[in-house]
Amino acid sequence: MRFSHKHLLGIEPLAPHEITMILDLAERYVDLNRGHAKHGDALTGLTQINMFFENSTRTQASFELAGMRLGADVMNMSMQASSIKKGETLIDTALTLNAMHPDLLVVRHPHSGAVDLLAQKVNCAVLNAGDGRHEHPTQALLDALTIRRAKGRLHRLSVAICGDIAHSRVARSNILLLGKMENRVKLIGPPTLMPSGIAEFGVEVYQDMAEGLQDVDVVMMLRLQKERMDGGFIPSEREYYHRYGLDAQKLAHAKPDAIVMHPGPMNRGVEIDGTIADDINRSVIQEQVEMGVAVRMAAMDILARNLRATPQEVMA
Ligand code: NCD
Repeated sequence: MRFSHKHLLGIEPLAPHEITMILDLAERYVDLNRGHAKHGDALTGLTQINMFFENSTRTQASFELAGMRLGADVMNMSMQASSIKKGETLIDTALTLNAMHPDLLVVRHPHSGAVDLLAQKVNCAVLNAGDGRHEHPTQALLDALTIRRAKGRLHRLSVAICGDIAHSRVARSNILLLGKMENRVKLIGPPTLMPSGIAEFGVEVYQDMAEGLQDVDVVMMLRLQKERMDGGFIPSEREYYHRYGLDAQKLAHAKPDAIVMHPGPMNRGVEIDGTIADDINRSVIQEQVEMGVAVRMAAMDILARNLRATPQEVMA
């Protein structure tokens, strides 16, 4: 079985066996990360550059750690301080970096499609660490690994994704991944935060939490993406919490063993009650962070194997 892609730009082009391949390798890295000597050699001699044009805590830190644990030389470009401020275009920055011969480029950008564009201009493997409201593939993969470990499978589960679906790349990548693996996906949120035409993705849409959460195995909460909103999408945070914030009462509609997820950063008291987020019997939010490092190690390892292989081998 081959991973037939040079880049990891989204979940959309991946086949189910390629998703499983990343998750299976990530399992091995979970074990490595839990040991004392956390070093592998899959990226030895390779150069990884992280370019984050948007703020990030978890994603950037875990990509950095993932690269270091696998032996890469890792450089973080501070995009605020770079020539972008002086008006250099994204493409010029990419070409400049390309001339330094990186092997792996990890990019987060506020514009949907920017990472795909950049991937066409460079020779190395590009990993999308989130582009606008488009895709965030490693987040969906780490969520999938967390679900698979908690539920023992990644198919025929009922998963609710709740809140600001319209502005969320996390939701989009998760909808695609969970759909490919044959799960039932229920989206819950106010109509103002639901993208138009979403039903074409084979999902069910609900406006009411009690109704949508009925008997689900997984409850995935999303942050209100205020930085991507240009008007009044919600009446007030108080009202939003009342209708859509996950509290014990609403969670009681899900299966008794349903897990609670959140990609972070979390707004306690807006989309989720702090007690639920901290409840170690229900919340897998810390596991998601742990799986994030392992999944990024696996994704970079697999792309690096393709870098070393001949083009014919990659396409075989
Ligand atoms: C998400 C993102 O940046 O898209 N965060 C993350 O990567 N952990 C979700 C968010 O910002 O709400």
